[in-house]
Amino acid sequence: MGDRLAGRVALVTGASRGLGRAAAELLAAEGCAVAVVDLKAHWAESAAEAIGAAGGRAIGLGCDVSDRAALQQALEATAREFGRLDVLVNNAMWNRYEPIGAISPATMDRMLGVGFEAVVWGIQLAAPMMAASGGGSIVNIASVSALLGIPNGLLYCGIKAAVTGLTRAAAAELGPDGIRVNAIAPSTVDTEGVRSVVSGEGLQRRIAQTPLGRLGTTEDIARAVRYLACDDSSFVTGQLLTVDGGLANSLS
Ligand SMILES: NC(=O)c1ccc[n+]([C@@H]2O[C@H](COP(=O)([O-])OP(=O)(O)OC[C@H]3O[C@@H](n4cnc5c(N)ncnc54)[C@H](O)[C@@H]3O)[C@@H](O)[C@H]2O)c1
Repeated sequence: MGDRLAGRVALVTGASRGLGRAAAELLAAEGCAVAVVDLKAHWAESAAEAIGAAGGRAIGLGCDVSDRAALQQALEATAREFGRLDVLVNNAMWNRYEPIGAISPATMDRMLGVGFEAVVWGIQLAAPMMAASGGGSIVNIASVSALLGIPNGLLYCGIKAAVTGLTRAAAAELGPDGIRVNAIAPSTVDTEGVRSVVSGEGLQRRIAQTPLGRLGTTEDIARAVRYLACDDSSFVTGQLLTVDGGLANSLS
């Protein structure tokens, strides 16, 4: 347990499992009160209970982050419970890898809704709350897919590139209010979400392509979230922090 975020309050989306959960746990271990947000309230509540059992402060909130009104309610519930908002981690995503010809309007709507619109709404709704207490930090979870061309990944690569672009624009606009906005580009991390779209063979191929010779872990990404959330990064904004074992800069 540390105190890098003592007295601060964070909301992490898609935090009942995977990268979001690891980030929520690490922020809580640094003294941050955390709102765990996920699609189903009982998933979020169970993750929040685990954080509580480990000595942290957390609440679990059910919310579809692509629904602006629902996200607003979650942010307001967080501020009601903990008194302020300092950190927003836009982590939730719903993904399909499929050939360009197979992309349906329903897939397009869902991926844009969760992966892009929810990030915009989150920034729009959280910024005034953060500004009211002198500033804050917004961390958007992008992907190395923002930097690479991946077959069958047209929507995913496009959305994650868009998230890096809006990160820079938000940083430029919100800096005067003391709000920093950064993004993280993880390479493959073995999570339930990844297992649903990448085969075991695909994971082995990714390891072989990675100079550091392994996949990322949820802790690797959580530590990057912690860095961007706390004052260690107080003069860092508008950046894309790549956490990928060297993958995106190598040719192998
Ligand atoms: N795991 C990886 O290899 C990897 C690599 C690069 C980037 N990322 C990014 O990291 C983030 C987390 O990835 P993960 O692998 O942990 O995913 P995951 O699928 O394991 O977890 C995502 C969570 O988001 C929740 N969620 C989905 N739609 C939601 C919605 N509309 N409202 C609220 N919650 C919703 C899910 O219920 C789930 O708990 C995503 O943005 C993903 O694109 C992951």
